[in-house]
Amino acid sequence: MSEAYLQQLQQQVVKLEQRLAESFAQVIDLLGMLVSTAERFYEGSHCRFVSQKASEVARRMGCSEVEVFEIQVAGLLHDIGKIGYPEPLLQKFPSEMAVEERQLYEHHPELGWHILRKHSALQEVAELVLQHHERLDGTGFPRRLREGQIQLGAAIIAVVDAFHNALYRRRRDRRLMHATTSEPPEIAQQRYLAALHHLEEKAGTFYHPRVVRVFVELVEEERRQLGQKILLTVPVNQLQPGMVLAESYYTSYGLLVIAQGELVTAEMVPSLVRFAEMGEIPRKLVVWK
Ligand SMILES: [Fe+2]
Ligand SMILES: [Fe+2]
Repeated sequence: MSEAYLQQLQQQVVKLEQRLAESFAQVIDLLGMLVSTAERFYEGSHCRFVSQKASEVARRMGCSEVEVFEIQVAGLLHDIGKIGYPEPLLQKFPSEMAVEERQLYEHHPELGWHILRKHSALQEVAELVLQHHERLDGTGFPRRLREGQIQLGAAIIAVVDAFHNALYRRRRDRRLMHATTSEPPEIAQQRYLAALHHLEEKAGTFYHPRVVRVFVELVEEERRQLGQKILLTVPVNQLQPGMVLAESYYTSYGLLVIAQGELVTAEMVPSLVRFAEMGEIPRKLVVWK
């Protein structure tokens, strides 16, 4: 076999690997969009928030690149088992659910596991999704696992998930979902502190204490950085990578386009421009720069 032929073959393999990796990333992305249809009652994008923060916590805790990636994907898809659940159930907090509703709700990690296991590359991700509602003291679900039986990735997702649930409560009044005005800063501040307090109070019983510590450091750091930015109204086509959305924007039928707190990336801009041209979001967005 000639040297040139070998090189050509290697280049083809590299191209094929790149195409496979791209296609895998696209599958994850479209699954993430499907999951977001089951979370329209949240303010902001729950699954994107959990994915982004959980992977950052994992990185700070010294997880390997592969583990960080798995946690990122599991964070995005952790509630995939809720797809198809009735809307009234999705709008309730677990404490407000009737016994049968609660049983169905507690089944979602297992349903998610069942779906994700179908893909050979998502076996680990499926395990993390299965365990994302387990608690250190054995009061979680579905398997009532205890400390030592729960994987670190699942413990990380559990902390970020609980924080976001406490911070951004599901909106019950659907009309409110279309409102783009921010709440007064002191109310947002109270909710933020209450969410942090919940984590710190339950560290060691529900949540992994070291994960709570790293997560609190992360969000406090981000809050300080945000405090140094200025608020601007920017035409969609002039959005720049690094800007942070100051409000959430939804389509006329209530699907989240982009959430408050999300970082603008170069790839996002063309689709935001299209949404604005279709009249689904305003032509100018409020951002921090
Ligand atoms: Fe969940
Ligand atoms: Fe969740």
